[in-house]
Amino acid sequence: MKKFVLSTTNPYEILIGKDLIKNAGAYISTCIPPCHLYVITDSTVNNIYAQVVMTSLMEHGYRTSKVVFPAGEHSKNLNTYSNILEAMADEGLNRSDAIVSLGGGVVGDMAGFVAATYMRGIPYVQIPTTYMAAIDASIGGKTGINLLSGKNLTGAYWQPSLVICDYKTFDSLPAEKLRDGIAEAVKCAVVAEDSLITPIKEHHYEYVIERCVSIKKSVVEVDECDKGLRQILNFGHTIGHGLEKLSAFSISHGQAVAKGMVVEARAAYKLGLTDVDISGDLEKILSELGFNLSIDYSLEELYHYALMDKKISGDKITMVIPETIGKCRLQKISLSELRKFIELGLHP
Ligand code: NAD
Ligand code: GLY
Repeated sequence: MKKFVLSTTNPYEILIGKDLIKNAGAYISTCIPPCHLYVITDSTVNNIYAQVVMTSLMEHGYRTSKVVFPAGEHSKNLNTYSNILEAMADEGLNRSDAIVSLGGGVVGDMAGFVAATYMRGIPYVQIPTTYMAAIDASIGGKTGINLLSGKNLTGAYWQPSLVICDYKTFDSLPAEKLRDGIAEAVKCAVVAEDSLITPIKEHHYEYVIERCVSIKKSVVEVDECDKGLRQILNFGHTIGHGLEKLSAFSISHGQAVAKGMVVEARAAYKLGLTDVDISGDLEKILSELGFNLSIDYSLEELYHYALMDKKISGDKITMVIPETIGKCRLQKISLSELRKFIELGLHP
């Protein structure tokens, strides 16, 4: 097992290994005293992993209960959020109790936001069960839910007390869900480490998770609340979030980020913001990894959702500009340039 410590306001451990979830109770007991642990999970993960996790929690003296919501991005909304809060209040959870998030990024974002806000904040543990959640969503305390108006428009920065990343759980992941995580791993490679591309292609999960966690750790420790450097982790997301929303979430987060990265890389070059055009290489890498990179939405549709981007401040938006595969920088552009940026990015 590998261990990282993320030194945020409240430092916490990230454990990475195989078969960790059957000892979840033991790991959690190192940072959370006996209490009521409320497991939040989705309908798919519940059927596969809830029993083993809850048995371990009980063996280590925790009182347990759980809430299960329907799997999928459609559930990451105010309705599910309020149902969970009400159920927790009905069960009498208080500030000495804690949440265990068991699932992919949807469960993690939801459970984290519930933890951040229930009684103004209680501890939580992340147990990611997708590649996406292991390398990104479970790390760094960004929590939140979607509004009807757009992706992740309500949330909080709330760090977990522990992350238990058991990549044996990927064994049950369907191929297309695994691929979603690959998109976010490619993003990490473009942002910070070109040598990650080969291990990503060869499915060296442990190595890729460790490197992505390490990269994210180095960014989040500098900028926990996304005021500057952390925005670099959003490469491909300005377009990606719009695609998710426009498709009513039939395009998954990972697929949308893959498409978004190509558009944003192409646009950055065509708008003269970078000397090197990485978009061709990126397109080749992502196509070989099985991504469909076509986009069926118009400039106007994508511009509309880009205007909801949380990287907008005043009349400017901060974009992530790839200088090479492995090095990106942040650059503010005006909202009128953003329109041109998207237009240029959409057409090869
Ligand atoms: P997801 O949570 O919807 O999981 C994908 C599907 O796989 C779901 O149907 C789920 O039930 C199923 N599943 C999960 N684990 C499984 C397993 N081990 N075996 C079989 N099936 C399993 O999606 P995701 O790709 O994990 O996460 C995407 C979400 O994460 C998006 O909402 C995105 O916005 C968010 N995200 C957040 C951050 C962050 O920093 N907070 C970072 C990246 C992504
Ligand atoms: N997933 C991007 C971030 O955590 O900042």
